[in-house]
Amino acid sequence: MPQTFDVVVIGAGPGGYIAAVRAAQLGFKVACVEKWRNPKGELALGGTCLNVGCIPSKALLASSEAFEQASGHLGEHGVEVGSVRLDLAKMLARKDAIVAKMTKGIEFLFRKNGIAWLKGHARFVGAGDEGWRIEVLDEGAQGDAGAPQLVDATHVVIATGSKARHLPGVAVDNVRVCDNEGALSLPEVPKRLGVIGAGVIGLELGSVWRRLGAEVTIVEAMPTFLAGADDGVAKEAWKQLAKQGLKIHLGATLGSVEVGGDGVKVAWTDAAGAAQRLECDRLVVSVGRVPNTDGLGLDAIGLKVDERGFVPVDAQCRTAAANVWAIGDVVRGPMLAHKAEDEGVMVAELSAGQKPHIDYNCIPWVIYTSPEIAWVGRTERQLKAEGRAYKAGQFPFSINGRALGIGAPEGFVKVLADAATDEVLGVHVVSAAASDLVAEAALAMEFKASAEDIGRVCHPHPSMSEALREAALAASERRALNM
Ligand code: NAI
Repeated sequence: MPQTFDVVVIGAGPGGYIAAVRAAQLGFKVACVEKWRNPKGELALGGTCLNVGCIPSKALLASSEAFEQASGHLGEHGVEVGSVRLDLAKMLARKDAIVAKMTKGIEFLFRKNGIAWLKGHARFVGAGDEGWRIEVLDEGAQGDAGAPQLVDATHVVIATGSKARHLPGVAVDNVRVCDNEGALSLPEVPKRLGVIGAGVIGLELGSVWRRLGAEVTIVEAMPTFLAGADDGVAKEAWKQLAKQGLKIHLGATLGSVEVGGDGVKVAWTDAAGAAQRLECDRLVVSVGRVPNTDGLGLDAIGLKVDERGFVPVDAQCRTAAANVWAIGDVVRGPMLAHKAEDEGVMVAELSAGQKPHIDYNCIPWVIYTSPEIAWVGRTERQLKAEGRAYKAGQFPFSINGRALGIGAPEGFVKVLADAATDEVLGVHVVSAAASDLVAEAALAMEFKASAEDIGRVCHPHPSMSEALREAALAASERRALNM
């Protein structure tokens, strides 16, 4: 007899595990299926974000920034450190320990909330005695598969995430040619690191290895840098990243990629049509991600993926099959952990008959380079295209006391507000700690704040957040006080 659950969540990444926790909080009997194995061959919760994404990359970004600070920038504080030596093995072990702590943390959350972890790969079988029937097969660490387990669920949440898109004909071995997984664990700092794609992963991991001493060259197909970001922010980020020594070539057309024993040779054509060659010790391919639906048995419940491989859903993450929901990277919208989390909460609450809502316009974006790049809402380009009249206010960190104190005077905040109503329509930040500053902007936009509202709120002094307040004042009928 199959075991029965009210809710079965497939995938324990940030979308899936949060959906499971919220469903359990609402009184459902919940199971979550997860098959991820870490490099030690152990089953682990947390999906891409915790194991080979957001969490380990942020650990390495912080460590590499500390190394760079100690190597070159502490002197300006009057702190002399002598010679600085990199212990890469220790740096990687610190990152792995953070990952282990976080993934074990989800096991704790599952125990605390009475969520069953079904270990293995989930596949829809069809209709069950109650709701849908799912087969869970643990493929084993060495392909030593056990017997499949059958479960029936009233509600199913597909939260299977995404995997790195690879280039046709270029095998990723995570030795010479890496995706995000290999690029987080290079055993030594490559002398020359090539990166295909100047998106989020290319810029973040390119920054990590450049700070640790690699000569990093990024080849990007698009003719514009960070096409999704505000033009002014992209321009400032470009300036700062170039100053740090990151070489980025835009408008490139990729040709052959030859992998040899001692390196990789990439042929590409530049924006002017001239043939170019990039020779590097290791290559990172970061050209986007594709949704994970392999072997999920969607056809057994009458579902089909769309032409890009996503599971089609409505605005509330409902699929065409009754009580089957899909969230996160496997559905439309940005592939961001926090978007997946919010969708997880939403579908759990909808399953319980509640009326949650996500304002997709208020989902913040962050790129954890130095300076960080973050935004929420509309860019000027989008507002112009929509024909919406707006006002812009901008404030630079070069005159913010806190920014000067911490040695991070680069960047600015830009606030865009409706010309007639003063409602905040978009906030764009390029600065240290932009990831935290943008949260205040998202909160303001969720409450439909006006620029003047932000300007009237008391902000701590000295703090980076004062720049947001000043930019809001500059956008409103009032004026910035410190400019
Ligand atoms: P991405 O979509 O951010 O960037 C991929 C880049 O590769 C694009 O600029 C694209 O034009 C370029 N590209 C595609 N094909 C190419 C080719 N043949 N030659 C040269 N360039 C090419 O994807 P990325 O960086 O792989 O990240 C994957 C996902 O993970 C993204 O959706 C991102 O949002 C998410 N992510 C988010 C992070 C964050 O929120 N801080 C951190 C890391 C990843």
